[in-house]
Amino acid sequence: MLTTTVAQAWISRWDRQQEGYLPDREERFTALIDAVEAGTDRPDPLVLDLGCGPGSLAARVLDRLPKATVVAIDTDPLLLALGRGAHSGRPELRFADHDLGTPGWAAALDLDRPADAAVSTTALHWLPETALRTAYGELASVLRPGGLFLNGDHLDVDDSTPQLHRLERALAERATRRRFGDDAPEDWRQWWNAAAADPALAELVAIRADATGHHGSESAHLAVHTVALRDAGFGEVGTLWQNGNNRLLCAIRA
Ligand SMILES: C[S@@+](CC[C@H](N)C(=O)[O-])C[C@H]1O[C@@H](n2cnc3c(N)ncnc32)[C@H](O)[C@@H]1O
Repeated sequence: MLTTTVAQAWISRWDRQQEGYLPDREERFTALIDAVEAGTDRPDPLVLDLGCGPGSLAARVLDRLPKATVVAIDTDPLLLALGRGAHSGRPELRFADHDLGTPGWAAALDLDRPADAAVSTTALHWLPETALRTAYGELASVLRPGGLFLNGDHLDVDDSTPQLHRLERALAERATRRRFGDDAPEDWRQWWNAAAADPALAELVAIRADATGHHGSESAHLAVHTVALRDAGFGEVGTLWQNGNNRLLCAIRA
């Protein structure tokens, strides 16, 4: 039985696990939401969260912008169940089960108006390049002209600047070491193993094991995202915030 309290506790544990990979996760969330606030210029934006996991970012958007509506999209049954369980009292937050790399998800959202912004954190690097291009094309079809896309992720510069590539990674790794030393939080695998051992979640973890495969990590380059966004119909594309290779990429729908 997945109660609100149990779901919230697992999301807090998820947040600690994710911080182990990016100690400035909250700072990046804050910068991203600052950009939504400044860039959408309305108190009640319609915001999509792509690859939302259990809804950590979606919830923070609503904490800052309580008149917003957020549609949070993911395909993982356990993470979606945690998000729905923890936030059932928030009608302005809807979780939707779609694979972002499969055409048709944007229309299936059945939005009553074009979205003002789309956000994403630590998710889209999972998509192989063709799936990423599909996702951005779908996104462009539901974002209003001038709408923002904000993507926080570890995105590497390409092979033409190998020293920058190495230094950007080195900065991110040093920041993590400085923050946690020898006391690193549990990692991704430990979190999933612990979830599988909780009787309240075991069934959902089993469904997940059947339903989802490993996607590989094929879109970790900044240039892949930049080119795919331009091709999908975004005009200005650039980095708004950065710490090493941990970036907040911003694109404006033309
Ligand atoms: C590391 S988690 C990040 C979750 C959340 N955005 C956060 O910052 O805590 C990556 C998420 O991307 C989702 N994801 C990966 N590929 C996806 C796809 N093709 N369609 C939808 N979601 C996907 C995963 O299910 C997972 O929830």
